[in-house]
Amino acid sequence: MAGLDLRHFLDLSDAGPQALRAILADAGARKAARTGLPKAHADDGAPLDGYVLAMIFEKNSTRTRVSFDVAMRQLGGSAIVMESGSMQLGRGETVADTARVLSRMVDAIMIRTSDHAKIEELAHYASVPVINGLTDQSHPCQIMADLLTLQERGVALEGMELAWLGDGNNVLNSLVEAAGLLGFNIRAGIPAGFEPDAAFVTRAREAGSQITLTQDPFAAVKGAQVVVTDTWVSMGQPGGDAVIAAMEPYQVNAEVMAAAAPHAWFLHCLPAHRGEEVTDEVIDGPQSVVWDEAENRIHAQKSVLLWAMGKL
Ligand code: CP
Ligand code: NVA
Repeated sequence: MAGLDLRHFLDLSDAGPQALRAILADAGARKAARTGLPKAHADDGAPLDGYVLAMIFEKNSTRTRVSFDVAMRQLGGSAIVMESGSMQLGRGETVADTARVLSRMVDAIMIRTSDHAKIEELAHYASVPVINGLTDQSHPCQIMADLLTLQERGVALEGMELAWLGDGNNVLNSLVEAAGLLGFNIRAGIPAGFEPDAAFVTRAREAGSQITLTQDPFAAVKGAQVVVTDTWVSMGQPGGDAVIAAMEPYQVNAEVMAAAAPHAWFLHCLPAHRGEEVTDEVIDGPQSVVWDEAENRIHAQKSVLLWAMGKL
């Protein structure tokens, strides 16, 4: 039976504004409290002592894989990593049966897959929380790390003016969702045909957020407090010379950063394609907080896990 009261984290709206703020506050406090400790040393109280997370990967990952594993260790629990190609899921066992079996064996499931419908199906049949580790549609865990990173730099999320340049992809969809839930505005400079999912944009606008889509990269970044980009070709998406040519005007370089607000922060979920969506000068420069952003995947996801387990 589907667990109707379960706290799945398929998208940011599953948690809602109040829980998202609580997750960010808890993540900041936990991070501060463990300064200087070895990476896998458990937090005080080891709140997930005895808990185990299963992770299913149907796409490549470095950050998501390591950060969830280390997050579970820091909470006193453990994690099992599975590639779908080496699972029975990869040779025809159904998503529903996989959900039923894993729910008897582990306390939560994280999955990275292409089709968002698959993660919804997994959540439907699971009796433990399911967490979205990226689909073609969204990447909510990434955005929690991004928001934590900006909070650490003293940026007030409410009313924040954020610019996005490049492909309107899964990361932008979740960023747009966050804007609607937490009350900030996004100006996205995107070539025609690469816009974010219209449903995310509509919901954020209905919530009162200003989501501006423009084909002018400088209009997008003008005065922005934060500039964000991502790969021009996401995993599993068609690339090619025509896509790269369409994206080239949207590269985040020194000229673009100069048009943003003074001391604007630069974010990138990584992996970066240096020389394409961002220059070395920007990603390695003083306005870049991408390494904090990557580390914060651990801290933000710990609090997502605690929320999903009903402990926050
Ligand atoms: N940003 C991110 O999700 O990185 P990985 O693909 O390495 O997990
Ligand atoms: N948009 C990118 C994010 C990678 C973490 C992708 O889906 O490939």
